[in-house]
Amino acid sequence: MTDLIVAVDGPAGSGKSSVSREAARRLGFGYLDTGAAYRALAWHCLDEGVDVEDARAVAERVADFDYAIGTDPDFYFVRVGGEEITSDIREPRVTAVVSAVARVPEVRQGLTELFRRIATDSDRAGMIIEGRDITTVVAPDARARVLLTASPEARMARRSAELGSEPTESTAQQLASRDAQDLKVVDFMNAAAGVTTLDSTELDFEQTVQALIDIVRAAP
Ligand code: C5P
Repeated sequence: MTDLIVAVDGPAGSGKSSVSREAARRLGFGYLDTGAAYRALAWHCLDEGVDVEDARAVAERVADFDYAIGTDPDFYFVRVGGEEITSDIREPRVTAVVSAVARVPEVRQGLTELFRRIATDSDRAGMIIEGRDITTVVAPDARARVLLTASPEARMARRSAELGSEPTESTAQQLASRDAQDLKVVDFMNAAAGVTTLDSTELDFEQTVQALIDIVRAAP
C-alpha cells in the first residue's frame, strides 16, 4: 500500500505529465497519468466504432475495459486488450473525442475506482497521481495536493513544442475548447481549499520539477 500520495491537477499544456513523471523518478515514487486512462478508453471506443456522443454506449464499455497502465516512471506504457497503444492515445483523433468520453458519470466513477486500486496495490513508498480531479475527487486526502498552472501563452508554447510545430491559431483553439469542455465537469483552474498552487509560467522544466519535489518534501 502506498503511504504517500501526491495529487497533481492542472489544465492541458501545463506540463503536469512530464513534470510529475520526472519528480516521481527522482523521488523513487510511482507515477500515474490518469489522462492516459481516459485517452485509452476514448481510443477503445473509436476502435470499436462506438459513437462517443452516445453516453450510454460509452458507459457500457467501462465494465469490461481491459486496460493496463505502467506506474514505473522509467517504464511507462498503456495497453488495451493486450495491445500496446502508448503513442496512439496521443493522436489528434483521440484528443478530439476524449472530453466527450470523460464527461460520462459511469466512466468517471469506474476510472476513479481503478486509480484508487492502483495506488493501493502499489508497493512503492509514494505515488504521484496527475490529472484534473485528483486533488478534489480521486485523492482529496493526499498528503501533498498541487495545482500546476501556467499562462495560456506558456501552455500553448509547450503544447506546440510537444507536437513539434509552431504555435498556431488552431492549436490555441483546440487547447481552449478542450479546457472549456473539461471545465464543465471539474474545476481544475482554481485551487480547492488546502491545495498548493504552483505557477510554472516563469519557470523552466528543471525549476518546476524541483518546486514540486520541494512541496512533496515539505508535506506533513
Ligand atoms: O491529461 P490529458 O490532457 O492527457 O487528459 C486527457 C483528457 O482526459 C482531458 O482532456 C479530460 O477530458 C480527461 N481527464 C479527466 N480527468 C482526469 C484526467 C483527464 O477528465 N483526472
